[in-house]
Amino acid sequence: MKITYYGHATLSIEVGGKHIIVDPFITGNPQAAAIDINTLKADYILLTHAHGDHVLDVEAIAKRTNATIVSNAEITSYYAQRELKAHPMNHGGSWQFDFGKVKYVNAIHSSSFPDGSYGGNPGGFVIESEHKNIYIAGDTALTMDMKLIPLRTKLDLAILPIGNNFTMDVEDAIIASDFVECDKILGYHFDTFGYIEINHEESIKKFFDKGKDLMLLKIGESIEL
Ligand code: NI
Ligand code: MN
Repeated sequence: MKITYYGHATLSIEVGGKHIIVDPFITGNPQAAAIDINTLKADYILLTHAHGDHVLDVEAIAKRTNATIVSNAEITSYYAQRELKAHPMNHGGSWQFDFGKVKYVNAIHSSSFPDGSYGGNPGGFVIESEHKNIYIAGDTALTMDMKLIPLRTKLDLAILPIGNNFTMDVEDAIIASDFVECDKILGYHFDTFGYIEINHEESIKKFFDKGKDLMLLKIGESIEL
Protein backbone atom coordinates (compact mmCIF):
# COMPACT_ATOMS: atom_id res chain seq x y z
CA MET A 1 0.00 0.00 0.00
CA LYS A 2 1.38 3.37 -1.08
CA ILE A 3 -0.04 6.60 0.35
CA THR A 4 0.68 10.00 -1.21
CA TYR A 5 -0.18 13.30 0.48
CA TYR A 6 -1.56 16.04 -1.75
CA GLY A 7 -2.02 18.68 0.92
CA HIS A 8 -4.77 19.49 3.43
CA ALA A 9 -6.86 16.27 3.71
CA THR A 10 -6.18 14.97 0.21
CA LEU A 11 -4.60 11.55 -0.14
CA SER A 12 -3.93 9.12 -2.92
CA ILE A 13 -3.78 5.44 -2.00
CA GLU A 14 -2.47 2.75 -4.33
CA VAL A 15 -3.58 -0.65 -3.15
CA GLY A 16 -4.49 -3.95 -4.76
CA GLY A 17 -3.70 -2.51 -8.18
CA LYS A 18 -6.28 0.27 -7.71
CA HIS A 19 -5.98 4.02 -7.21
CA ILE A 20 -8.04 5.75 -4.55
CA ILE A 21 -8.28 9.51 -4.04
CA VAL A 22 -9.52 10.76 -0.67
CA ASP A 23 -11.13 14.20 -0.19
CA PRO A 24 -9.70 15.99 -3.24
CA PHE A 25 -9.04 19.67 -2.52
CA ILE A 26 -6.11 20.65 -4.72
CA THR A 27 -7.01 23.43 -7.15
CA GLY A 28 -8.17 25.61 -4.24
CA ASN A 29 -5.01 25.05 -2.21
CA PRO A 30 -2.16 27.40 -3.22
CA GLN A 31 0.27 25.12 -1.33
CA ALA A 32 -0.61 22.32 -3.77
CA ALA A 33 -0.18 24.46 -6.91
CA ALA A 34 2.48 22.04 -8.22
CA ILE A 35 -0.06 19.19 -8.36
CA ASP A 36 -2.01 18.83 -11.63
CA ILE A 37 -5.33 17.10 -10.95
CA ASN A 38 -5.42 15.94 -14.58
CA THR A 39 -2.50 13.63 -13.88
CA LEU A 40 -4.12 11.88 -10.91
CA LYS A 41 -5.33 8.33 -11.39
CA ALA A 42 -8.56 7.31 -9.67
CA ASP A 43 -10.65 4.17 -9.64
CA TYR A 44 -12.39 5.34 -6.47
CA ILE A 45 -12.90 8.67 -4.71
CA LEU A 46 -13.55 8.36 -0.97
CA LEU A 47 -15.23 11.35 0.67
CA THR A 48 -15.37 11.78 4.44
CA HIS A 49 -17.86 14.67 4.30
CA ALA A 50 -19.23 17.37 1.98
CA HIS A 51 -17.30 20.48 3.00
CA GLY A 52 -15.65 22.42 0.19
CA ASP A 53 -12.15 21.74 1.47
CA HIS A 54 -12.85 18.02 0.91
CA VAL A 55 -14.90 17.89 -2.30
CA LEU A 56 -13.70 20.81 -4.47
CA ASP A 57 -12.11 18.66 -7.18
CA VAL A 58 -14.43 15.65 -7.02
CA GLU A 59 -16.45 16.39 -10.16
CA ALA A 60 -13.42 17.18 -12.33
CA ILE A 61 -11.56 14.02 -11.28
CA ALA A 62 -14.63 11.76 -11.37
CA LYS A 63 -15.71 12.96 -14.84
CA ARG A 64 -12.24 12.39 -16.31
CA THR A 65 -11.51 9.05 -14.63
CA ASN A 66 -15.04 7.61 -14.30
CA ALA A 67 -14.09 6.80 -10.70
CA THR A 68 -16.69 5.51 -8.25
CA ILE A 69 -17.46 7.94 -5.43
CA VAL A 70 -17.73 6.24 -2.03
CA SER A 71 -19.28 8.14 0.86
CA ASN A 72 -22.44 8.48 2.92
CA ALA A 73 -25.73 8.05 1.04
CA GLU A 74 -26.54 11.79 0.91
CA ILE A 75 -23.17 12.67 -0.62
CA THR A 76 -23.28 9.83 -3.14
CA SER A 77 -26.85 10.71 -4.23
CA TYR A 78 -25.71 14.35 -4.75
CA TYR A 79 -23.09 13.09 -7.21
CA ALA A 80 -25.30 10.38 -8.72
CA GLN A 81 -27.72 13.19 -9.69
CA ARG A 82 -24.79 14.69 -11.59
CA GLU A 83 -24.37 11.46 -13.56
CA LEU A 84 -21.31 10.30 -11.63
CA LYS A 85 -20.74 6.74 -10.42
CA ALA A 86 -21.32 6.29 -6.72
CA HIS A 87 -21.41 3.67 -3.99
CA PRO A 88 -23.54 4.74 -0.99
CA MET A 89 -22.58 3.73 2.54
CA ASN A 90 -23.54 4.77 6.03
CA HIS A 91 -22.04 4.67 9.49
CA GLY A 92 -21.03 1.28 10.80
CA GLY A 93 -21.38 -0.42 7.44
CA SER A 94 -18.57 -1.97 5.45
CA TRP A 95 -18.19 -3.23 1.89
CA GLN A 96 -15.70 -5.52 0.21
CA PHE A 97 -14.38 -3.61 -2.81
CA ASP A 98 -11.95 -5.09 -5.32
CA PHE A 99 -9.01 -3.43 -3.52
CA GLY A 100 -10.06 -4.23 0.06
CA LYS A 101 -12.69 -3.75 2.72
CA VAL A 102 -13.92 -0.26 3.58
CA LYS A 103 -15.88 0.65 6.69
CA TYR A 104 -17.53 4.05 7.14
CA VAL A 105 -17.08 5.08 10.76
CA ASN A 106 -18.22 7.91 13.00
CA ALA A 107 -16.76 11.39 13.06
CA ILE A 108 -17.90 14.40 15.05
CA HIS A 109 -18.08 17.35 12.67
CA SER A 110 -20.64 18.75 10.17
CA SER A 111 -21.18 18.03 6.47
CA SER A 112 -23.07 20.52 4.27
CA PHE A 113 -22.05 21.04 0.64
CA PRO A 114 -20.69 24.46 -0.39
CA ASP A 115 -24.02 25.13 -2.22
CA GLY A 116 -25.94 24.47 1.01
CA SER A 117 -27.15 20.96 0.02
CA TYR A 118 -27.44 18.46 2.85
CA GLY A 119 -24.32 16.32 3.06
CA GLY A 120 -25.51 13.75 5.60
CA ASN A 121 -23.35 13.10 8.62
CA PRO A 122 -19.55 13.19 8.45
CA GLY A 123 -17.44 10.08 8.77
CA GLY A 124 -14.08 8.47 8.49
CA PHE A 125 -12.89 5.27 6.81
CA VAL A 126 -11.20 2.09 7.98
CA ILE A 127 -9.55 0.32 5.04
CA GLU A 128 -8.34 -3.27 5.34
CA SER A 129 -6.23 -4.40 2.39
CA GLU A 130 -3.10 -6.36 1.49
CA HIS A 131 -2.64 -7.23 5.18
CA LYS A 132 -2.30 -3.50 5.92
CA ASN A 133 -5.02 -1.65 7.74
CA ILE A 134 -5.45 2.10 7.94
CA TYR A 135 -7.84 4.56 9.55
CA ILE A 136 -8.64 7.84 7.83
CA ALA A 137 -10.34 9.89 10.53
CA GLY A 138 -11.70 12.72 8.37
CA ASP A 139 -12.47 16.01 10.08
CA THR A 140 -13.38 15.06 13.61
CA ALA A 141 -13.23 15.88 17.27
CA LEU A 142 -11.73 13.33 19.60
CA THR A 143 -14.51 10.83 20.24
CA MET A 144 -14.95 7.73 22.39
CA ASP A 145 -16.26 5.97 19.26
CA MET A 146 -12.63 5.70 18.12
CA LYS A 147 -12.24 2.99 20.80
CA LEU A 148 -14.54 0.75 18.74
CA ILE A 149 -12.08 0.56 15.83
CA PRO A 150 -9.42 -1.69 17.40
CA LEU A 151 -12.14 -4.11 18.54
CA ARG A 152 -12.37 -5.18 14.89
CA THR A 153 -9.19 -3.97 13.19
CA LYS A 154 -5.52 -3.93 14.09
CA LEU A 155 -4.29 -0.72 12.47
CA ASP A 156 -0.93 -0.20 10.79
CA LEU A 157 -1.47 3.55 10.33
CA ALA A 158 -3.85 6.19 11.67
CA ILE A 159 -4.36 9.31 9.55
CA LEU A 160 -5.54 11.99 11.95
CA PRO A 161 -6.38 15.70 11.69
CA ILE A 162 -4.07 17.74 13.91
CA GLY A 163 -4.66 21.36 12.89
CA ASN A 164 -7.04 22.36 15.72
CA ASN A 165 -9.85 24.95 15.39
CA PHE A 166 -12.03 22.79 13.04
CA THR A 167 -10.80 19.39 14.31
CA MET A 168 -8.65 17.76 16.97
CA ASP A 169 -5.41 19.43 17.97
CA VAL A 170 -2.15 17.52 18.49
CA GLU A 171 -2.91 16.65 22.14
CA ASP A 172 -6.33 15.22 21.27
CA ALA A 173 -4.83 13.37 18.30
CA ILE A 174 -2.35 11.72 20.68
CA ILE A 175 -5.29 10.50 22.78
CA ALA A 176 -7.05 9.40 19.58
CA SER A 177 -4.03 7.31 18.65
CA ASP A 178 -4.33 5.63 22.07
CA PHE A 179 -8.04 5.00 21.46
CA VAL A 180 -7.41 3.38 18.05
CA GLU A 181 -4.32 1.59 19.43
CA CYS A 182 -1.93 2.74 16.73
CA ASP A 183 1.39 4.46 17.36
CA LYS A 184 2.14 5.28 13.74
CA ILE A 185 0.32 8.45 12.73
CA LEU A 186 0.14 10.49 9.55
CA GLY A 187 -0.98 14.01 10.41
CA TYR A 188 -3.24 15.96 8.04
CA HIS A 189 -5.62 18.93 7.95
CA PHE A 190 -2.98 21.44 9.08
CA ASP A 191 -1.24 24.56 7.72
CA THR A 192 -3.67 25.13 4.81
CA PHE A 193 -5.36 28.15 6.36
CA GLY A 194 -4.33 30.57 9.09
CA TYR A 195 -6.67 28.88 11.58
CA ILE A 196 -4.87 25.55 11.40
CA GLU A 197 -1.17 26.38 11.28
CA ILE A 198 0.93 24.17 13.53
CA ASN A 199 4.53 23.99 14.72
CA HIS A 200 5.87 20.85 13.04
CA GLU A 201 8.85 20.20 15.33
CA GLU A 202 6.79 20.68 18.49
CA SER A 203 4.00 18.43 17.18
CA ILE A 204 6.41 15.62 16.26
CA LYS A 205 8.09 15.92 19.66
CA LYS A 206 4.79 15.73 21.53
CA PHE A 207 3.99 12.42 19.83
CA PHE A 208 7.59 11.21 20.25
CA ASP A 209 7.43 11.90 24.00
CA LYS A 210 4.47 9.48 24.19
CA GLY A 211 6.39 6.82 22.24
CA LYS A 212 4.55 7.58 18.99
CA ASP A 213 5.69 8.39 15.47
CA LEU A 214 4.00 11.40 13.85
CA MET A 215 4.76 11.69 10.13
CA LEU A 216 4.21 14.99 8.34
CA LEU A 217 4.65 14.55 4.58
CA LYS A 218 5.49 17.26 2.09
CA ILE A 219 2.88 17.80 -0.61
CA GLY A 220 3.46 15.12 -3.25
CA GLU A 221 5.48 12.94 -0.86
CA SER A 222 4.60 9.24 -0.39
CA ILE A 223 5.00 6.49 2.18
CA GLU A 224 4.81 2.72 1.68
CA LEU A 225 3.21 0.43 4.20
NI1 NI B 1 -14.87 19.87 7.33
MN1 MN C 1 -11.94 20.27 6.52
